[in-house]
Amino acid sequence: MKKFINVKDLGDLKIAVQEALEIKKDRFAFKHFGENKTLLMVFFNSSLRTRLSTQKAAMNLGMNTMILDIAQGTWRLETQKGVVMNGDKPEHILEAIPVMACYCDIIGVRSFAKLENKTDDYNENILHQFIQYSEKPVFSMEGATTHPLQAFADLITIEEFKTKNRPKVVLTWAPHPKTLPQAVPNSFADFMNEADVDFVITHPEGYELAPRFVRKAQVEYNQNKAFQGADFIYAKNWSAFEDVHYGKILSEDMNWTIDAAKMNLTNHAKFMHCLPVRRNVIVTDEVIDSPQSIVIQEAANREIACEVVLKRMLEGLK
Ligand code: CP
Repeated sequence: MKKFINVKDLGDLKIAVQEALEIKKDRFAFKHFGENKTLLMVFFNSSLRTRLSTQKAAMNLGMNTMILDIAQGTWRLETQKGVVMNGDKPEHILEAIPVMACYCDIIGVRSFAKLENKTDDYNENILHQFIQYSEKPVFSMEGATTHPLQAFADLITIEEFKTKNRPKVVLTWAPHPKTLPQAVPNSFADFMNEADVDFVITHPEGYELAPRFVRKAQVEYNQNKAFQGADFIYAKNWSAFEDVHYGKILSEDMNWTIDAAKMNLTNHAKFMHCLPVRRNVIVTDEVIDSPQSIVIQEAANREIACEVVLKRMLEGLK
């Protein structure tokens, strides 16, 4: 595996999930794979889960790890081509990437959307420059428009907790005071559309995701209706995708907060969220503290999802 930025990079999804479940039985079974190999994790943005789970996955495989937080102890990097560099960014990513690549075997990159220009964000400029100029396997630790490690962990979690062959999975928008990217819902939709589930997306009008991620999902604007019979509720906020409102908050309607009354409409659904989550904004304490909530188990599977990706990348190095 040379890159991991979307569901297609995993190949057969059933095989990938089975591989994950096997690794989970003995996460140190492949600890010789990463001997004398180094993972570089490059963060342009903050993280708790991705930082720890990726490092842990690499350690399970016997890798060395290095973490670089851009602009915190490093030079600020210019990422646009052709600019006159007379501002506050003393190093260009065109030199920085090949230099970073000298010191490692695999690179993980976190680089969020700026939510200023849809074309810039959806071009995934930074991630693609790492793929192009590093000549190393590169995986997304959340890009501007996708978060495949999260969605892979989500799918593993659904596989573990499902009680029927084809569960109903609902991705629901929920309110949030800050403008957030579409990366998590995009990737979740990307994976659910490939998985053996009945997939429904619910959100207020104006929050339609990109058609290439929605694909065959059923879109239902009535949240209560969407929740009926659901086996999994996946909550997430995202900002508007549509051109004129791109990156904007169109609603802070607290009627979309996930509470016990809404969960009672479901088929005893499990509650999921990628975390971090704003309690009593996205979801009430009552729901996230209930046995229906599997947010911690979901976060734990980030380690397993990443271990599959790193193992496959290490196999490709041999
Ligand atoms: N879910 C997730 O990616 O968490 P972090 O932003 O803390 O890494």
